[in-house]
Amino acid sequence: MVTTSVILAAGQGTRMKSSLPKVLHTLLGVPIIDYTLEAAAAVSNEPPVVVVGAESELIRERIGERGRFVTQETQLGTGHAVLQAEDLLKGKSDQILVTYADMPLLSAETLIRLVNEQSKKNGPFTMLTMVSEDSRGFGRILRDRHGKITAIVEEVQATPEQLLIKELNVGAYCFNAEWLWESLKKIPLSPKGEYYLTDLVDIAVKDNLPVTSVQLENPEEAVGINNRIHLAEADGILRSKVNRQWMLAGVTIVDPGRTYIERNVNIGSDTTLLPDTYLLGESVVGSECIVGPNSLVRDSIVGDNCRIYASVVEGAYVEDEVSIGPFSHLRKGARLSRGVHIGNFGEVKNSTLGPDTKMGHFSYIGDATIGEKVNIGAGTITCNFDGVRKNLTEIEDDVFIGSDTMLVAPVKIKKGSRTGAGSVVTKDVPQKTVVAGVPARAIRKVEEDD
Ligand code: UD1
Ligand code: CA
Repeated sequence: MVTTSVILAAGQGTRMKSSLPKVLHTLLGVPIIDYTLEAAAAVSNEPPVVVVGAESELIRERIGERGRFVTQETQLGTGHAVLQAEDLLKGKSDQILVTYADMPLLSAETLIRLVNEQSKKNGPFTMLTMVSEDSRGFGRILRDRHGKITAIVEEVQATPEQLLIKELNVGAYCFNAEWLWESLKKIPLSPKGEYYLTDLVDIAVKDNLPVTSVQLENPEEAVGINNRIHLAEADGILRSKVNRQWMLAGVTIVDPGRTYIERNVNIGSDTTLLPDTYLLGESVVGSECIVGPNSLVRDSIVGDNCRIYASVVEGAYVEDEVSIGPFSHLRKGARLSRGVHIGNFGEVKNSTLGPDTKMGHFSYIGDATIGEKVNIGAGTITCNFDGVRKNLTEIEDDVFIGSDTMLVAPVKIKKGSRTGAGSVVTKDVPQKTVVAGVPARAIRKVEEDD
């Protein structure tokens, strides 16, 4: 039996009030469409067919090879949307699973259950329903006194009595393909000027064919995204799920409600996350680290036994036993070797700091290569930008940079040298040399007891 999934994503998403297509809004840093695509892909070996609107470049780009596309030029409703896939799929599939792109929490397991149920039946389709006190604006399921489904009424069209019905249309259906292609054309135009997929129930009933249903077990899966309140709600559900997974995997999360871990993040065991910590993008945090409070790590790799305290780490690579903060900022291309210490108000961009190098207070290091066991005094700045170009600073092992040194790049400080407090270094400094002044001049060689 060949099953193909069709995802409807052509709606305008007007209730989001956004210039971005609804399905590209993100949950835990990943677009909504990725979730729906993954769940739908689980029921079939062929890539899902995604129905998109006319201006859908961004959506197509995001999905890429993971889906096939058909266009619904004008948004004439969910029934009309499915019909757009007919040419592509007619005669090639026995069953069609239809889902809505704005239901990202529906799990693959639920969809598989739906498909399996339909496979066992001879009926025209099986649909997913749920019983809930909170109607969420969903269509209501009407059943006759024998319990047979007789119709789905959309909330806007429901009578006051129908509004009281607790069984709701979640919005996932598995159809007998042949019946689907035939019946879609029979859907009447709704008073709102749309062809509702949900009217297929009516059509099946008229043909005397039984519509079957599968009940959703976990109501959290039914959060559909129509507006930004739903978006926050879905994000909250996913966030607590991810946080629970990490806690079960050995990560201490002191206040899960105030800890944000995006989907593609990895964390080692015995790491502690303090409140208001954000681990974002493609980040890895090793074992036995303490991150937070008030810290953000984005697209970075952090080793084991690191301490990140009230700091921002973006696009950085941090080895083991590094401590950062409070109030420091690692930017793109910052590479901190084992044992580095960045204290208060440090900024590092596109620079490598060698093992055990310390930079305790108020410093900016940009476009620099710094060796091992270098001491960077308070207030040190690499003056890397001359107004046109970014220039490089090189500091070799065991250098001592005095407080408030300006390193006017391009410049090299050779092994074992020292700069006096307040020096402005404009020329390369040879090995084991002490320089001082503005501009800095060599005043003597470094002595053994320096
Ligand atoms: C729909 C269902 C409703 C159900 C609810 C559950 C219909 C008529 N109603 O309502 O019974 O309880 O979902 O989530 O199906 N779309 C298109 N082309 C269109 C219109 C919509 O591709 O012309 C897509 C949208 O992008 C969206 C999906 O279909 O992903 C559902 O459309 P939406 O407008 O969100 O329907 P609901 O009002 O939520
Ligand atoms: Ca919806």
